[in-house]
Amino acid sequence: MDEDMEAVVTQVEEKLGYPAIVKPANLGSSVGIGIARNRTSLETAVEEALEYASKLVIEPLIGELKEINCSVLGDTEHAEASVLEEVLKTEEILSYADKYQGSSNGGSKSSGGSKGTSGGMESTDRIIPAPVSDERTEEIQSLGVRTFKALGCGGVSRIDFMIDETNDSVYVNEINTIPGSLSFYLWEPAGKDFQTLTHDMIQLALKRQRDRERLTFSIDSNLFSLQGGGGGKGGSKGGSKK
Ligand SMILES: Nc1ncnc2c1ncn2[C@@H]1O[C@H](COP(=O)(O)OP(=O)(O)O)[C@@H](O)[C@H]1O
Ligand SMILES: [Mg+2]
Repeated sequence: MDEDMEAVVTQVEEKLGYPAIVKPANLGSSVGIGIARNRTSLETAVEEALEYASKLVIEPLIGELKEINCSVLGDTEHAEASVLEEVLKTEEILSYADKYQGSSNGGSKSSGGSKGTSGGMESTDRIIPAPVSDERTEEIQSLGVRTFKALGCGGVSRIDFMIDETNDSVYVNEINTIPGSLSFYLWEPAGKDFQTLTHDMIQLALKRQRDRERLTFSIDSNLFSLQGGGGGKGGSKGGSKK
């Protein structure tokens, strides 16, 4: 075992224990993900994941997992959460085949999930709205909005959550900033059709552009006032005139 691998193994065994899950940090679609149940399978999973990325995420494996996704639309000032979906898995981890090739054992259980013929997240087996309590739904929607704002997102995103059913804890797993099918199927149930969703996204993009132009303008005018020689060296940051 080389030094790097030894350091990984030591850290995982000290901090996490087994079973753990090993994921490439910057891929998607469950590519390169492996489960480590002991030192040998940890080494194999790390080697495999390193084929796909130089940065890995290793975390405790949630044994009884419920996967819930929530779309968020807006910007850092105002953002709203969609209805939730539960994504159903058929294997130990929601595999590439489940996401992109549809399920082999029966059709979609959702009201909105069987529309797509083009594959992608649109045809994954899902239940909408997710069968969780009202309080849990609100908690996840609020976590979704907070995550979206904390990351400074704009437009439409989909935030994926994991619930550990052994102790009922909820985790933010990842954010998809350009979600498959723009998550339109999570907005439709609340009456926002695809056209309205894209209209909203365009309005948000225009607002973002206006905000950006305002920022650039005030930086330009500060530089200008410094060059003008009147302001002296320490040119005040708030000194731009409207
Ligand atoms: N800590 C975990 N415990 C159990 N299963 C997990 C865990 N993290 C991820 N998974 C499973 O692996 C899948 C892919 O992981 P994810 O972090 O979403 O990566 P990707 O970017 O490939 O979608 C998840 O949808 C879930 O089924
Ligand atoms: Mg994922």
